[in-house]
Parts: sequence; C-alpha cells; structure tokens
Amino acid sequence: MSENIIPHNYQISRKDRRNKNNHNSFLLWFTGLSGSGKSTIANLVENVLFQEGINTYTLDGDNIRKGINNDLSFSPVDRTENIRRIAEVANLMIDAGQVVLAAFVSPYKKDRENIRTIVKDVNFVEIYINTSLEECERRDVKGLYKKARRGEIKNMTGISAPYEAPENPDIEINTEKESIEVSVEKIIHFIKPKLNLKNE
Ligand code: ADX
Repeated sequence: MSENIIPHNYQISRKDRRNKNNHNSFLLWFTGLSGSGKSTIANLVENVLFQEGINTYTLDGDNIRKGINNDLSFSPVDRTENIRRIAEVANLMIDAGQVVLAAFVSPYKKDRENIRTIVKDVNFVEIYINTSLEECERRDVKGLYKKARRGEIKNMTGISAPYEAPENPDIEINTEKESIEVSVEKIIHFIKPKLNLKNE
C-alpha cells in the first residue's frame, strides 16, 4: 500500500527546528514493571529539563492507552502494536524538535529494538527502571497486582506475562538502592551532552 506514497520535502527540517530551540531532540525511553517508578522518575526529569528551557513532552502508558491506543489490549500482539505506534509518534515529536520522555512497561526486547530502528539509534536512550517484582507488588500503587493474583487480570506483566529485562540499557536505575534525587541526577548527567547541538 505504501508504494504509491511519495513523501513531500518540506522546507523546515528537523535540523532547522533543533537550531531554533538551540538543543537536540531525542527520545528517553523508560522501561520496567508496572509500579516500578517509570512515570514518577520521567516526570521529575521532565521538570528539570523544562525549568532549563528545554522543549519536552511526556508520553505515558496510562494516558496513551486511554486515547490513541484505546483499541489495544495487553496481549503480546497488541503490546507490540502499542509500542510501535508510540515509537512512530515519538519520532514525529523528535522531528518537531522535542525531547520526548516515554514511560511504558514495554516488556519485549524485540519491541524495544524496533523503537531503536524507528527513531534511529542516535536518538534513543533506553532507561531501565529496575525495581523487583516483590517491591512493585509490595507498593501495588494501583492495586493491579492484588487483582492479578486473584486471577481478575489476564496477562499481567511479572505475574502471568513475561518481562524481558534490558541487558545493556544506557542507564539503569535501581529504585530500591538509590534515592529518587540520585536517580534523576544520573539521568540528567547522561543526557546533558546529548542536548548540545554540536553532538547531533
Ligand atoms: S505495555 O506492556 O504495552 O508497554 P503500557 O505501559 O502501555 O504496557 O501499560 C501499562 C499500564 O497499564 C500499567 O502501568 C498498568 O497500570 C496498566 N495495566 C493494566 N493491565 C495490565 C497488564 N495486564 N499488564 C501490565 N500493565 C497493565
């Protein structure tokens, strides 16, 4: 179907938008179990960047799944499609000059590799929020683990569906050992040089 689609060359390029913003654009991808702290940390990182005048936007599992992806379940194929669409949206936002933060369980390695292909390696920062299942279950902020243990939720990541942990993430955060301030600082420290237009 895409064979007859010929892209138009628009005059304002990704580079023009980055130059206007005076910083690079890329994707910070947070992966980890439900309740691991992805959204909390992404929110704090975005806050720091925003205060410094960086153009940012956050995509998050719970808001995307209520809107653009409200037709998708938690079956393996639907999760793959969930992540593919988010990666395509993030890619447009990178084009638009934004630093995009995305917090999704994204349990399958091949789906995360696909994001890297869509947005290109250089624009992709994989951040593994490593919180054990025991700790996520203990926190159970949304009460989902309790429901999953009672058999009321199918395909619950960590309980009845797999989580394939990243082997070589760009950044790994262990929320059970590091304070949240240290975690945020670690991420900011890593991305600071990437914001510089000279490192495009
Ligand atoms: S993903 O696996 O497709 O990446 P996504 O991040 O969009 O998942 O959505 C995960 C959020 O949906 C969780 O934080 C949780 O609040 C909720 N959720 C509901 N059912 C499930 C389930 N079966 N497995 C994981 N998360 C679920």
